[in-house]
Amino acid sequence: MSLIQWVDFPSLGDERGSLVALEADKTVPFGVKRVYYIFATQQNVARGFHAHYNLKQVAICVTGKCRMVLDDGRTREEVWLDSPTKGLLIGDLVWREMHDFSEDCVLLVLASEHYDEGDYIRDYDKFTKVAQ
Ligand code: TYD
Repeated sequence: MSLIQWVDFPSLGDERGSLVALEADKTVPFGVKRVYYIFATQQNVARGFHAHYNLKQVAICVTGKCRMVLDDGRTREEVWLDSPTKGLLIGDLVWREMHDFSEDCVLLVLASEHYDEGDYIRDYDKFTKVAQ
């Protein structure tokens, strides 16, 4: 199965413009405990470079774009996030990197757990061992 799993959000648009509703356990396939967003990323900066033991996330580029690299320790795939109606689902034990942020990029992330630094794997060699 591909590492790239999209969640498509219906756009509830009308003549006034567009609206997307994100609902825990409905449009988002888990209970959401945390929301954060990354913005004003400096040019030529890449972020991420970690995996989590126990964390599901959906990443949505609500404006602008960035390139997401996902790696499960066996395969590495990359995809552009550039649509406010498409969320990228990221499961447990997936190494992620974000590259090539556009100046206007706002990357919204919904997470299944509260922030816990102890859940991070920030060393790639350790990640490949854990993910085996
Ligand atoms: P980090 O996870 O390193 O960001 P990225 O992977 O996007 O580069 O987080 C950057 C800083 O923000 C780090 O000091 C931890 C802190 N942080 C929180 O306090 N809460 C959060 O929910 C997140 C995601 C990060």
